Amino acid sequence: MTDDIFSYTSEQQGILTCASLPIDQEPDIISLRPERLKDYIGQAEVLETLEIAIKAAKQRGEALDHVLLHGPPGLGKTTLSHIIANEMGTKLVLTSGPALEKGGDLVGMLTHLDVGDVLFIDEIHRTPRAVEELLYPAMEDFSIDFIFDKGIHARSHRFPLKPFTLVGATTRVGLLSAPLRDRFGLFRSLDFYTNEDLEKIVRRSAALLNLTITSDGAAELAKRSRGTPRIINRLLKRVRDYAQVREDGKITRKTVEQALQLEGVDHAGLTPLDRRYIETIINYYNGGPVGIEAVAATLQEETDTLVDVVEPFLLKTGLIMRTSTGRKASDTAYLHLGLRRTPI
Ligand code: ADE
Repeated sequence: MTDDIFSYTSEQQGILTCASLPIDQEPDIISLRPERLKDYIGQAEVLETLEIAIKAAKQRGEALDHVLLHGPPGLGKTTLSHIIANEMGTKLVLTSGPALEKGGDLVGMLTHLDVGDVLFIDEIHRTPRAVEELLYPAMEDFSIDFIFDKGIHARSHRFPLKPFTLVGATTRVGLLSAPLRDRFGLFRSLDFYTNEDLEKIVRRSAALLNLTITSDGAAELAKRSRGTPRIINRLLKRVRDYAQVREDGKITRKTVEQALQLEGVDHAGLTPLDRRYIETIINYYNGGPVGIEAVAATLQEETDTLVDVVEPFLLKTGLIMRTSTGRKASDTAYLHLGLRRTPI
């Protein structure tokens, strides 16, 4: 087992500690996460599917089928894995594809799972091939094959596992191999949240943090949160600081506007990186079409960050378009940045 893997029982409320968590996954944000299905806001169809599958599995006394969750970062894939374990009354073990460097890392985890436990693999599309192949019999037959020796002396030994549930999370379902994808009984995509759901989420978070937030304050935060609960909870913390230091602590539309101006988050929720991305397409590549690698090189950013983190919301809101010849900025993007198309 690697150092950054911790497992917790459902009684421990599914709180995870990691050596280096991204800022928006710090423990107090995690505690804002709902722990049961009944507290979860949004993604109604995903919730209904899970509710039925969990109830049915519990009635039969079986482990829940393996679940694959797909969608951009921050929409609730990890939260749902906590909820699944809590609802099943079992233990959750968290890891990620890139952390599973060797087969032994995965075998150590699988052999410690009890009946019905949940193994969550984040970024499952980045699991090394050799480790992924161990997952096939583990998922299908609840067993792992050990291979001893090589060539003509090779022998294999099958080791039984307890029936468990694998929850895989991915931002790029297209990168998953067919044999892995086909072994998940449940597959659901998470979409960006509506402003209405985000308002409910931020009101719930504000209540948990003992903050006063006005209706227009909640609406303004929702509008600027890129359809993403993780972002609204992070921005709420920044606005809380601002309201506490510069105002009377109350969160209003005005405090949200002022605090988020300092953060560089504009009225549509675009961040400095979003704007630099669009400006690059417009200013360096005349609005596109341009390949993602070229944009990444100009911005000096990782292609994966642009594809996984930046682009999904810009595509969803129609600011950029992905065509067979590359990325293009839309008329709305020009308008948003106050730029004009220059004739070629
Ligand atoms: N906090 C973060 N995501 C949430 C959600 N979907 N529902 C309620 N609270 C949340």
